[in-house]
Parts: sequence; C-alpha cells; structure tokens
Amino acid sequence: MREKILFNSGWQFYYGEAGPIHKTVKKSGGLGGLTSVLPGERGEAVKLGPAGKFFLSMIPAPAGEENALLEMLLGSDLKVSLKGWRAVDLPHDWKTELEYTPEKSVFMAGAKENGVGYYRRVFSLAREDEGKHIAVEFNGVCRSASVWFNGCFLGDHYSGYTSFGFDLTDLVNYGDEGDNVLLVRADTTTGDEGWWYEGAGIYRDVYLVKTDTLHVDTWGTYIHLDKLVKGSARMIAETTLVNRGRKTRSARLDTVFSDDQGNKAGSAAVPFTIEPLGSLTLIQEISLPEPRLWSPETPVLYTALSSVVENGVTVDQYETSFGVRTAAYTAEGLLLNGKPIPLKGTCIHQDFAGIGTALPADIQEYKIRKLLEMGSNAYRSAHHPADPALLDICDRLGMLVIDENRLLESSELRLGDLRDMVKRDRNHPSVVLWSLCNEEMIGGSPQAARMLQRLVGELRRLDTTRPVMSAELLPPGGELNPEYFNIFDILGLNYPESPLMGNNLDKVKAAYPEASYLNSETASYFSTRGAYADDWERCQNNNFGSRFSMMAPGKDIPNAFGAGGTARPEQALGFYAANPYSGGVFIWTGFDYRGEPSPFLWPAISSQFGIMDTCGFPKDYYYYYKAHWTTRPMVHVMPHWTWPGREGELMRLRVFSNCEEAEIVENGRSAGRKTCGSDWTEWELPYTPGVLEAVAYRDGKEVAREIHKTAGAPAALVLAPEGWAEPRLRAGGTAVVSASVLDGSGNAVPTADNSVTFEVTGNGRLLGLGNGDPADHSADAYPVRRLFAGKAAAIIQAGTGKDRLVLKAASPGLAGAALEITVR
Ligand code: GAL
Repeated sequence: MREKILFNSGWQFYYGEAGPIHKTVKKSGGLGGLTSVLPGERGEAVKLGPAGKFFLSMIPAPAGEENALLEMLLGSDLKVSLKGWRAVDLPHDWKTELEYTPEKSVFMAGAKENGVGYYRRVFSLAREDEGKHIAVEFNGVCRSASVWFNGCFLGDHYSGYTSFGFDLTDLVNYGDEGDNVLLVRADTTTGDEGWWYEGAGIYRDVYLVKTDTLHVDTWGTYIHLDKLVKGSARMIAETTLVNRGRKTRSARLDTVFSDDQGNKAGSAAVPFTIEPLGSLTLIQEISLPEPRLWSPETPVLYTALSSVVENGVTVDQYETSFGVRTAAYTAEGLLLNGKPIPLKGTCIHQDFAGIGTALPADIQEYKIRKLLEMGSNAYRSAHHPADPALLDICDRLGMLVIDENRLLESSELRLGDLRDMVKRDRNHPSVVLWSLCNEEMIGGSPQAARMLQRLVGELRRLDTTRPVMSAELLPPGGELNPEYFNIFDILGLNYPESPLMGNNLDKVKAAYPEASYLNSETASYFSTRGAYADDWERCQNNNFGSRFSMMAPGKDIPNAFGAGGTARPEQALGFYAANPYSGGVFIWTGFDYRGEPSPFLWPAISSQFGIMDTCGFPKDYYYYYKAHWTTRPMVHVMPHWTWPGREGELMRLRVFSNCEEAEIVENGRSAGRKTCGSDWTEWELPYTPGVLEAVAYRDGKEVAREIHKTAGAPAALVLAPEGWAEPRLRAGGTAVVSASVLDGSGNAVPTADNSVTFEVTGNGRLLGLGNGDPADHSADAYPVRRLFAGKAAAIIQAGTGKDRLVLKAASPGLAGAALEITVR
C-alpha cells in the first residue's frame, strides 16, 4: 500500500562547491563520491558487476587501494570527505545564514550573495520494499536543482517554484545491498527568476513515496464539477494510472467520495487493464447528492479516495481533497457559485522573518489567518506557483487564490512548468483563477500573443473550470493589442488606480466595454511599522504617507504625494468602489518581504509595501483595510501616545473605524465626536501625556474602544504567543511568539528598542528572529535581536517528543520573561 513519507529530517548540508560531482559518466552507475555511499557508510561506493570486476582486474592494485583504481577508471569523484558538512532539517533556506552584503547586484534580491549548496540524505530501505515503486518528490528547490542517486545522475530542475520528482525504483539498494544516497545541488548563481528575495536551497517539503508498481500517477487525479443538477453535483473524476511493472495488470478503480465527517457521499467503480510500462486515464462520473458548496464562508472539503483493487486486494490508495463550487468571471467580477464576490485581495511573496522562504506549514497558516482577520478573502501568489502546503491551508480556511505561472514563454521547458502547476493544483477549490504572467516586457507583442495561445491551449487541456488572466502594466495611453489581450478571460491590470499610470483603465474600458477586468495589483504604499516621520537615514516611511517616491522622485504629480510606490490605499479602494466592474483589489502587498527595498538604497534590505511587516505585525493601515473589509465594530487610532519631550505640540490623529461615529477622548476630556469619514477621520490635539482613547459608536451606542497610554521607562519583557489562544504546540509544530516591553505600570512601550536575548530550552528550538525593521542586519538565526517599534518575533519549533519547551527572553535592566509551551 502507498506510503508517503515526509523526508525533511536527517539531511547533511554543505555551502559552496562540494564537487567535483559530474553529470556525465564513462561507465553506468559509476559516479560514486558524494552521490554514493562513502567509506564508513554501509555499502559499496560503486556497484560492480562482473564486467566491472573484469576491468579492475586488468589494473594491478595493491590491496586497499581499489578506490584509486576506480578513480583512474571513473574520474575524481571518489576523492571526497564530509568535512564541512553539517546536519540540517528541511525546509531550509541557506540564505538566512549568510550576512547581508551591500553588493549592488543582489540589492533587489534581499542583499545576500548567490551561491551553491548541497544537500545529502543517506537512508536505508528494507528488503521488503523491493518490488515496490519508489519515488522522491520535491515541493520546491531554489534553484537550478541537480539530483543524483546512488551513483547516477537523475536530472535537473530549473524552476525554483514548481514541484518535481524522480523515480528511484531500479537504483535503490534494498536491505543488505547497502545504504542509499540522495544528493541535491542547488545553485542560485544561474540567475534570478524574480526581482525580489527568493531564498536558496530545499525550502519546501520533500517526500519519499512507496507504491505498488501499479498506482495512481503523481498528481494523477482531477476531480471537478461538471454540473449542478437538481440538488446534486455531477462530478467528474479523471484518474491516471500507471503500471511501472513488467506484467500486464487487470484491476478495478474504485473512487469513493466522503464528506468532511467521513460519510460516504458517492462512488463509482470501473475495471481496467494496463500493459507493462503503460498508463491510462479513466473518467468516472459520480453524483454527489446535496453537495455543500465550498466558499470562503463555508470552506467545506470532500475527499476522493481512489483505490486500485486487483483480485480483491487493494494495491494502491490515493487521496484527493476537493471542494464543490463554480468559479466564473464576468463584468460583475468573480462569480463564486453564481454569486458576485468582491475580491479583497493581497499579493504575497513567500518569505517571513527569521526563516527566509523556508516556511513550515504552521507559518503559512499564521500568515493566512492574519490576512483573514483583516477581512481579506483573496491571495495572489505573486509571481509564482504557490507552495502546495499553502494551498491546503487556503482550502481549509476559505481563502481564494490566484495561482500564478512564473513566465510568459512557451518553450518546452516553460510549458512543462505550467503543466506541473496546473496538474498539481487543479483540485484545490481555493484556486479560483490562473494567472499566466506578471508585467512581462514583451506582453502585448505579436510574439507574446503567439506564446500565450500556446500556453492557454496547454492549460485548457488540463483544466477548463477556471478563468485565465494575467497581470499587466499598460502603457500610459492604454493601448492594447487585442490579438494578445483577447486570449485571456480577464484583463488583469496592475495599478489602474494610480495617477502615475495615467488612469488608463478608462481608455481601455471605452475601447472594450464588454471585457472583464480585475485590478490584479494595487497600492504599493510605503510605510514602516511604528514610524510617524520619514527618515532617509534609517530607511523609514511615515504611516501617514511618505514623501519618498519610487515612481516619480521629485516630480509634482497631482495626488501622487504620499503614494510611496504607486498609489495610496485610499486610491486603491476608492478606484474599485468607483469601478465595481473591476473585480476587487489585490493590494501590493500583505506583508513586507525581503528585497525590493524601494525607495531606499543600502542599508535597506526589505520592502515596505506590506500592510503588515515581515513578522506579521500590523502597521496602522492594517486597520484601514479592516475597517473596509469587516463588519464587527472596530476602531484604531494612530499614532501611539508616547512622545517624551513633545508636550504641548499639536499631534495629528487619524482614526480608522467601520462604525458610524468616532470620538477621541484625551485624559478623560472629549476632543469631539465625528461622523466617520469613508477613509478616515482626523483630529488635531496638543500632546499631553496620559490616556488617549478612540471610541466608536453605532446607533449612538459605544461599540468599540482602543486605548493608548503614555508609557514610561521600559521595565519588563513580555512574551505572547501570536495567534494562539493557549501556549500549546503539536510535536514538530512551529509558532510565532512576540516579545515586547512594559513600563513599571504595565503599559506597553511602543518605542522600545531594547536588545533581547532569546533561548529555547526543553523540547524545541529557535528557528529565527525578526523585528520588522527594514534596515536591521542581524542574522536571522542569531539569538539576540533588538526590538523595533516595541516588538520582535521569535519563530520557535517544537521537537518531535511530547515534553514541554520554554522560551526565555532576557535584556539588561529589564525583568526577563519566560513562556512555557506544552507540546502534544
Ligand atoms: C509591480 C510588480 C511587483 C513589485 C511592485 C512594487 O509593478 O508587479 O512585483 O515590483 O511593482 O511596487
């Protein structure tokens, strides 16, 4: 029966060229060296059949120097040792371990040098595994991965974003034949795929998959809705079966649907025969009575269990999680299950504080939950195919996804990447739109139109249930090449709301009134968490709006002031409100990310477009979006109320609320109650230390209140689990813990910048630290971190055991803190 084994632990890692390791070889299976077992590891370095022994016998060698002979015959790969190698667990992004560099060529990519890294995994497989099909699956390696197994070169995979795998079956050493060695080389010097930080290494999960030689192929199911008829869903299950064995096999495919309670919801069975090394795709129609439709509010998942049954014995079982829903796109925007659903989206890159791109699923979930709490319902995986672990979370939590192909090229290589994305992701109900590219320089050209035809044709062979779009920058005049744009179902336009872009959507809309539009990327608003003044030296942008600009430095463009990158949040949401046919918004970006630190130069190392910082700590405009996207009463006032030395100075206060009225109360005195503006409501008050309160009203009754108290000198550290009700983690689970500082009266100090030393004891480890400062050069995994604007984040991981772990924080002059976490 199928076994899918998470293969993330027990790897060896080497940074740099561990070589010489070749891809070509004179005699089969003879690469040896690091690609095979080494002295001390069980088994022979190179497998020798009779011919090998014959060759060796021709070269006289003193006993014990057989390797020297092999070297003469096979090359220098045998001269290796594991000096400099160390143990790592996956996921792993080696760039988090490097120092930041001012080198211009990597400035946009997060200021880390490019390089080469090797991962090696030695493992044994039991004799009983012989006869099974054995494969390795990589969810993602950055980048230009080369893979060897037991002395053989298996192949290269260039994309750092698509998943891939290899069949290992024939090459495996079973039982006493010896150990097995999997070697992966990743190389980021081959060129970037993006203009942002992309990480380096095996940064997503790896699996070893054992199956019968007759089995459901990798990504071999496609479960989709054909039609909703009279209270029942007519589903189509397409299943690709492969027979990697030497005999013709006759069996039956049973596909059984279960609901989320495990109750059987529908089934079909069909007999089949496959010849040796053959494959076959079977199509089954299965009716699912009274389906519960998937939507962000009701993320109901079903499971399809595909069983291969031969002579009454189940030889393979493959599980597919799916949802029942329709997704169409019209001039009203996205229609999910026939109902328009305005997209409250953000664009997201992959990285996170402390861990780079190596995000355990729990951290992916943390990010998604933060976005959902803000009221966001859509996620654009910019600009790459998403991590499959992320899509599982979006399915489960009800987040809509635009899954994005990396490049608009139709070479066999790039077509392969597109196919891989679509085959892997087409069962996810969360994936509602495919995007084929972002802002390609050749977009709209005749060549692009031809390539696009090819890509869309390929995509349509694999999935017809989702609209296809791209994310385009239009020339200021809004000129379109219909040959190109007509191929898409949706015209995705980036920044149509920006005055800097010449408001070109009006012109396009006038020329193509029937087309469907989506604001695929919007805002790009700079802000630094906790900053209320621009500061070029410290690379900080005022949350009220920055005077620094990326697009038009020094130019006087009406309304562009304060836009930072391209437009203000108010312009983005305002544009959609005025043009509701444009589907919604995808704010650039949900979180700050490494790289692209525009408008700053070194020492800035991360972007500031995020609604939240790199740790997921909200900036003030988080509450702007929350006010627009949620209905539960909320109020937020910016800035904080701790301004020593600025007593009497007039302070500008901005309140975000989704209520009818808001009031500012300062030290018990009302500064006036106002009807809430559509974007925000402002007050001006002279600063007096004490208590600042923002109160929100509906129907004249208080429904929400936020309090800022002037803080005194820092006195004590506090640790708080972010996003969990109780400090409890499952074995192997990962979590974010925030550190902050209180004054002697227990008030949070919003400006604290104390340096804090973190330590994990017991059953767990510290994966990394962050603070959201866009110019902090501390090493991710170094246990000391300065608080930035009062906060830092520790990313901790529980061990596999069941004991507790304790996270401790200490800082000179402050009372320390300890958080005990139960591991279950
Ligand atoms: C967009 C681009 C994004 C990012 C952003 C910054 O044009 O698609 O990847 O670079 O600009 O404002």
